[in-house]
Amino acid sequence: MMDLSVELLGIRFKNPVWVASGTFGYGIEAVEIYDISRLGAVVTKGISLKPREGNMPERIAETPCGMLNSIGLQNPGVEGFLKKIYPQIEHIDTHFIANVFGETEEEYVEVCLALEHAKKIVAYELNVSCPNVKKGGMLFGHDPLVLSRLVERVKAKVKKPVLVKLSPNTGDVKSFAKVCVESGADGLVLINTLLGMKIDVWSEKPELSTIMGGLSGPAILPVAVRMVWEAFSELGHSVPIIGVGGIYDTDSALQHILAGAVCVQVGTANFFDPTAPLKIIEGIGEYMERKSIESFKELVGRAHRLLVKS
Ligand SMILES: Cc1cc2nc3c(=O)[nH]c(=O)nc-3n(C[C@H](O)[C@H](O)[C@H](O)COP(=O)(O)O)c2cc1C
Repeated sequence: MMDLSVELLGIRFKNPVWVASGTFGYGIEAVEIYDISRLGAVVTKGISLKPREGNMPERIAETPCGMLNSIGLQNPGVEGFLKKIYPQIEHIDTHFIANVFGETEEEYVEVCLALEHAKKIVAYELNVSCPNVKKGGMLFGHDPLVLSRLVERVKAKVKKPVLVKLSPNTGDVKSFAKVCVESGADGLVLINTLLGMKIDVWSEKPELSTIMGGLSGPAILPVAVRMVWEAFSELGHSVPIIGVGGIYDTDSALQHILAGAVCVQVGTANFFDPTAPLKIIEGIGEYMERKSIESFKELVGRAHRLLVKS
């Protein structure tokens, strides 16, 4: 077995394959299926200050090669997480990253501060695709100034590393990535879901109760790879980029890595192939063996290097 361990954020991960927020619960549901300590890391479902019930059904719709969701960030709140869920993950031998969101900057900060003493949580992943109630509902991640203030405020208060998960719906990933890094982000996660919708032609109505929702799954792979590529072109190895979007097998994971991702997250694929992350871990090792690549680090952003040479 090849050594796939990677170091980023000052932390060693046993491999670069993580599971994405909202597609793996808090990890505890999957322990029945396989030993989740084999994963590089688990990113939790989004955690907010207060519990949230989420949106009304229908909240999920199937699409060609993907799905739409408008779950609405249902979660038990940070206290509920610490009381009911944390004790069940504390002993699991892999890293956990808390996906955090809020309706105000203060809420983001408060959630992170509440998790500072939870040792199993090694970093925060800020979901900035959430409405800022103090700015008329504009999403945090859609305004560079608002985004920059949020990252600066969180960074000023917390000790653990902060990843920012960017929205693909701004269209301008390079400048938003730069804003985050200049504001102190320790790493970037690309991408969250793409805004989409589906209409039921017989009822002549949108299928989701919220009309629009987030598109995910293999359908978004080329968009995600392009955005990782663009962010890496701008930032190079200066800050870790975590690739997420459409990953379902070794090839799709490798595309993210060769575009510049140092780690990848498997999302929607967990719903149709729960063991996909394990197959990808194995597949990356086999690929390295076949290509006689000894260190995983050599793969990161390699498609850029080969392009420059030709
Ligand atoms: C049902 C569902 C729930 C999600 N919940 C969250 C969430 O709570 N926080 C977040 O940042 N991203 C959330 N996401 C986005 C995923 O983490 C991921 O960024 C996106 O689905 C793209 O990856 P994929 O194509 O591999 O699914 C959710 C996605 C799905 C499908």
